[in-house]
Amino acid sequence: MKFARTVVPLVVAGVLAAGLSACGSASASDYAEQNLEGRGPITFVQGKDNNGVIQPIIDRWNAKYPEQKVTLKEQTDQADQQRDDLVRNFQARNSGYDVVRVDVVWTAEFAAKRWLQPLTGSMAVDTSGMLPATVAAATYQNTLFASPVTSDGGMLYYRSDLVPNPPKTWAEMMSMCSIAKANNMSCFAGQYAQYEGLTVNAAEAINSAGGQILDEQSKLSINTPEAKAGLSNLVEAYRNGNIPVQAVTYQEEQSRQAFQDGNLLFLRNWPYVYSLASTDATSKVAGKFAVTALPGQSGAGASSLGGASAGISVFSKNKATARDFVQFLTSEEIQRFYVTQASNAPVLAKLYDDPELVAKLPYLPVLKTSIENAVPRPVTPFYPAVTKAIQSNAYAAIRGQKSVDQAIIDMQKSMEAAGVK
Ligand code: GLC
Repeated sequence: MKFARTVVPLVVAGVLAAGLSACGSASASDYAEQNLEGRGPITFVQGKDNNGVIQPIIDRWNAKYPEQKVTLKEQTDQADQQRDDLVRNFQARNSGYDVVRVDVVWTAEFAAKRWLQPLTGSMAVDTSGMLPATVAAATYQNTLFASPVTSDGGMLYYRSDLVPNPPKTWAEMMSMCSIAKANNMSCFAGQYAQYEGLTVNAAEAINSAGGQILDEQSKLSINTPEAKAGLSNLVEAYRNGNIPVQAVTYQEEQSRQAFQDGNLLFLRNWPYVYSLASTDATSKVAGKFAVTALPGQSGAGASSLGGASAGISVFSKNKATARDFVQFLTSEEIQRFYVTQASNAPVLAKLYDDPELVAKLPYLPVLKTSIENAVPRPVTPFYPAVTKAIQSNAYAAIRGQKSVDQAIIDMQKSMEAAGVK
């Protein structure tokens, strides 16, 4: 009894203390109510600025609003590392990550965790005039959690000096690999290192062959002959050398470099490459390339929808400034700057039909079609597990460590385990 008497009060005290500390520390959703009027310096966090476009944009803002200065924090150029950095800082409730670049595939996860400020009420931004797919990709459970800033659609870059009529189908492209051989170069590459870019490329191969990861009802439908045919296209091209051996180490930048160095006849990449391959002092392909739609089974293929939005952290102390800065990023002035300076895909629909821009940037119609027909990657708060299922199995199949059939079955099983049905 004596033992019990001393123990019980201790246990009760412990429970009370735990209860008190829970009351004392607000949950992430409580933060969404705070600092809505806050103005002052903020930080904008995004991945490496390959095209040198964001600092000049921030400079324009800072010249106008010196009291609400924006400072840039650059992460690495790799999508998965960028996400991990954001997750760490959200978990630490870092008020210094005020506005962050949110890849389209992170919206659901970050929103479900209540890390992003809902853009409603005084935080609302104007999304009229934006491509609908970009707004959908920043929305979770009918609430806008980030403002679209740049979109992204995959395109096929090709050496127009060597290939006068670009291929429309995968089979046509493969048949043109003889041109690469004759010119002592590799034929085709996308991004096949094991990271988010491989999920993009595997999904494109599957969608372009008439397969799907999810069907129209968002049900898992990956175990089909079409999806297998799509993945087989990559596996076979890697096995027979049409995709060079080092392509399993390629992310966006390494594959851009290979194309710019004149080592690739065809490249799958995002629009940002257009500007760099044209203007980089070291580019060997300036004036010698053009872009067309990704090749499909019997006509154009389907890109994975890419792109980025700007989200406001619920932990920011200066949310009024953050909101105005986000709106500024979507203004026509800044959208024009993104496309002319960095060949980034604007989110404002009307810019794709702007005669002055189209005259300067001949890839714009191809890009618009790519984005309009692009297929979103699965939308789920459990996306990290979903992308891992796709990446790791596609990687094993491309490297010949797993059959295509097995890789597709394993993708399905792992996605089911991650809650996708
Ligand atoms: C680009 C796309 C993004 C994608 C990433 C993969 O940044 O915009 O959506 O996830 O590439 O590497």
